[in-house]
Amino acid sequence: MSVYLYNFASFKLILITTTMTTVNSEKLSSARFAEATDAFVEVFTASVDFDQRMATQDIQGSIAHATMLMRCNIISKEDCEAIIAGLNQISDEINNGEFIWSIQQEDVHMNIEARLTNLIGIAGKRLHTGRSRNDQVATDIRLYLRSEIEQISHQLTRLQNAILNLAEQHTDTIMPGFTHLQVAQPITFGHHLMAWFEMLVRDQDRLQDCKKRVNIMPLGAAALAGTSYPIDRHITAELLGFSRPSANSLDSVSDRDFAIEFASVGSLIMMHLSRFSEELILWSSAQFDFIDMPDAFCTGSSIMPQKKNPDVPELVRGKSGRVTGHLMSLLMLMKSQPLAYNKDNQEDKEPLFDTADTLINCLRAYADMVPHIGAKKQNMYNSAKRGFATATDLADYLVRKGMAFRDAHEVVGLAVRLGIDSQRDLSELSLTELQEFSALISEDVFEFLTLEGSVAARKHIGGTAPETVKAAIATARLLMSAL
Ligand code: ARG
Repeated sequence: MSVYLYNFASFKLILITTTMTTVNSEKLSSARFAEATDAFVEVFTASVDFDQRMATQDIQGSIAHATMLMRCNIISKEDCEAIIAGLNQISDEINNGEFIWSIQQEDVHMNIEARLTNLIGIAGKRLHTGRSRNDQVATDIRLYLRSEIEQISHQLTRLQNAILNLAEQHTDTIMPGFTHLQVAQPITFGHHLMAWFEMLVRDQDRLQDCKKRVNIMPLGAAALAGTSYPIDRHITAELLGFSRPSANSLDSVSDRDFAIEFASVGSLIMMHLSRFSEELILWSSAQFDFIDMPDAFCTGSSIMPQKKNPDVPELVRGKSGRVTGHLMSLLMLMKSQPLAYNKDNQEDKEPLFDTADTLINCLRAYADMVPHIGAKKQNMYNSAKRGFATATDLADYLVRKGMAFRDAHEVVGLAVRLGIDSQRDLSELSLTELQEFSALISEDVFEFLTLEGSVAARKHIGGTAPETVKAAIATARLLMSAL
């Protein structure tokens, strides 16, 4: 019988053919069943097509489990050695693409165990002593996520360093800062980039915090109630590099909070990347024309020869929705599930795998692209000038001369109106014209009306002044070197 299934992790529609019809020779716990599994149900319930991705972790977990069983005198040294040798051979077979995955064996765990027994006989059947697939799968996912988190963190670090390098080149580059996407006040491009950097600092933090709760070991919880064998869970935890064994066997097999947390941290990272993307897309448009996007990260149009489309940021912006979708899937998957393990949980893997893949790919694309973004300094400068970005500075000037802020706000509004009508920036109005609005204004006003004067004045911690941005970059470099 053949069935088409969509594999979310590989984005492929795959044709699965099962030869199994009525003979129930290989069915799990077959003694319990009088009837063979329905051929479609067998395919429908199998997860091997996607969970084979955790084969490395499954073998790693089994080697540690067998070692612990041996050290606790639950299996013999000979059996343990045969199991480890067999598992190492299976690992080679998988890496060489020789391993034959079978739908009849349902999932990655059963496939590996069946092959092990096939290779080493009775000792292979002893591996599952004091263990269930419920604690096994929870362990595999945690091991898998732990290593994905390391890769994500690495790409995040690359991107943070790329942003720092670019910010360093632009501590003096003036651009308009926006609120409501309208020119608000002048800022430096370096300061804007450092805002991106700060978002990623929080992402790194959250990722490391999430890792703490991922790195706890469920093995030993068995199906749900623990096991009657005299196991030592500390041994297994230590062998696998987990910080400790989990505290409650029911919770160990049913908990997927760590997966939801991971998808949530991932959604925040992608939300940040979507915001960076939106700005890059806007800035590279002819209307803004603030930056030059590297050709290698853009594509042309099949019909309009003049086009250079910012494909990478657009795609990353699009992919952010998909990761948030996975977060929702996982939350809904767990909602209302009774303790302890339920087959529902098999549905956690595809969203998790895709979340990790999407994060690694998007961060990598960004880390590769950011160093090649070119700033069109003059355009940025002109745009800040056109938008009356120093209006607040004029108001602050009047306040320093004794005017109440609300009155100053009013006076500057009138000056801006004159600027709009005569198509001039505030710094281009004459002293006499400005003095018409307030007698408090004198020659020194021009120091504050220039874009340079405006940014230089904001030199407190967190401000946009070139010297402050330089200091922020230096602090950030220290932080990065401590990672
Ligand atoms: N493939 C299953 C999963 O991904 C493994 C655990 C199966 N356990 C069970 N009791 N059916 O969750």
